[in-house]
Amino acid sequence: MSRRFTPPRLLRRAFVLSLPSFAVLAALVILREMHVLTALALWAWVVLALSWLIRPGMADAARVALWARNLAAGGENIPPPVSPDTPIEEIASSVAQLRRAWQERQTELALLAKWNESLFENLPDPLVLLDPERRVVKFNQSALTAFGRDITGRDLSVVLRNPNVLEAADAVLAGAQARDGAFELPVPVPRSFQFRIERLGPSPASDAVAVLALNDLTTLKRMEQMRADFVANASHELRTPLATLLGFIETLRGPARDDEQARDKFLGIMFDQGSRMARLVNDLLSLSRIELNEHTPPAESVDLGRIIQAGADALMPLTAPRQMRLVVTIDEAARHVIGQADELAQLAQNLMDNAVKYGRDGTAVEVTLRVATTLPAAAGPALRDAPAVVLAVRDHGDGIGKEHLPRLTERFYRVDTARSRTLGGTGLGLAIVKHIVNRHRGKLTVESTLGQGSVFSVYLCGAKAQTEAVSSALSLSGGRL
Ligand SMILES: Nc1ncnc2c1ncn2[C@@H]1O[C@H](COP(=O)(O)OP(=O)(O)OP(=O)(O)O)[C@@H](O)[C@H]1O
Ligand SMILES: [Mg+2]
Repeated sequence: MSRRFTPPRLLRRAFVLSLPSFAVLAALVILREMHVLTALALWAWVVLALSWLIRPGMADAARVALWARNLAAGGENIPPPVSPDTPIEEIASSVAQLRRAWQERQTELALLAKWNESLFENLPDPLVLLDPERRVVKFNQSALTAFGRDITGRDLSVVLRNPNVLEAADAVLAGAQARDGAFELPVPVPRSFQFRIERLGPSPASDAVAVLALNDLTTLKRMEQMRADFVANASHELRTPLATLLGFIETLRGPARDDEQARDKFLGIMFDQGSRMARLVNDLLSLSRIELNEHTPPAESVDLGRIIQAGADALMPLTAPRQMRLVVTIDEAARHVIGQADELAQLAQNLMDNAVKYGRDGTAVEVTLRVATTLPAAAGPALRDAPAVVLAVRDHGDGIGKEHLPRLTERFYRVDTARSRTLGGTGLGLAIVKHIVNRHRGKLTVESTLGQGSVFSVYLCGAKAQTEAVSSALSLSGGRL
């Protein structure tokens, strides 16, 4: 309630303060020591004197009260207009100090709220806040990605139809402290989640009473599965040639002991199977070696142009009998890259080997190394910061179906298992390529059209000191071999 400083209030206060002197004067009148008119005149004088004395103090008090009310309403913290060196001025400066401390605290709280908000928003796991009616009050960025749409105000059953989650949510909203469990989402792609729903303390700023936290286990489960598949596949790949070898050894020790013709034939097959096992073990070893070093990217400058040329030369014995051409085009400006020579040789060899293996007889395999003018969307910072180059290997074979593309770099994954085995493949070539590309902080992309062929492109960081761009088209054979 506002109590203003007015003349009647001043007089009333002076009147109250003058009561003791009034009592003394009254006593003097009663004892006939003073005339009543003199006493009244004296009392009036006391009242007026008191009014004059307390007037500045009361005015200051009224001004400070007005100023404090203005501060409480969020007004500016300017010093109040009061007389200096008075108790009222001290009170005012304490209030101003209090206000400053309160403002600092308010700024701190606002920053803390902002920090909490950004923590909530940026947590990698999807989080959903629920009101007592099981409706979504708020959700974070990760939940938006998981659900793909704004779910504010929706009942949880519309967002997640899983009965485990809904039962847990109902139990917590009915008073339980926390519940957890797991569920699978079959669409749009199968995903596995772990969830935990917990009660929240009361909040003055939100209706949220519970938080649902999801943990996406899909990648973890897929990796577990891949690991199990890898062991099964590796054993299977080794067991097949091993069984063949043992079978032939049995035969050579038994029925074919004296059959010279059969022995020569069997020894040839045994050699092939032994070589296959050796290749497989070599590939597995080189894959684990590359994986081991994947966290340390190579730093030296390598002449990739020369490596590609040498790899192409080595493939001549394969291309010649099939009337295939290997056309290598090296852009001089892209010749040098940051990398590890042996690994890059393995990468180029695997890609060119595939292109020749899966290309059609009589067609060309085009290998180009040039400066990359555009980068794939998922290119990492290393590629973005460097002058990127791209090695593209194009074949004219049967191409690869779209459904196979995402799995192509998995260990032992083959589009056509029988064909790959007949061609002596281990199914590890592209897995090795992927890990080499990862170690080089590069990017592998595959484009393929069924019936027309495929292009495997590897983006790598070019060496800074690049020579002037000079494109030179080199045809290994210059025509059909
Ligand atoms: N250029 C291509 N055209 C068509 N299919 C391809 C091509 N490159 C790879 N593939 C398919 O991808 C699969 C995996 O290739 P990858 O190089 O990993 O194994 P591989 O060639 O069978 O054996 P390896 O390279 O270990 O000798 C191949 O089996 C093949 O089915
Ligand atoms: Mg291969």
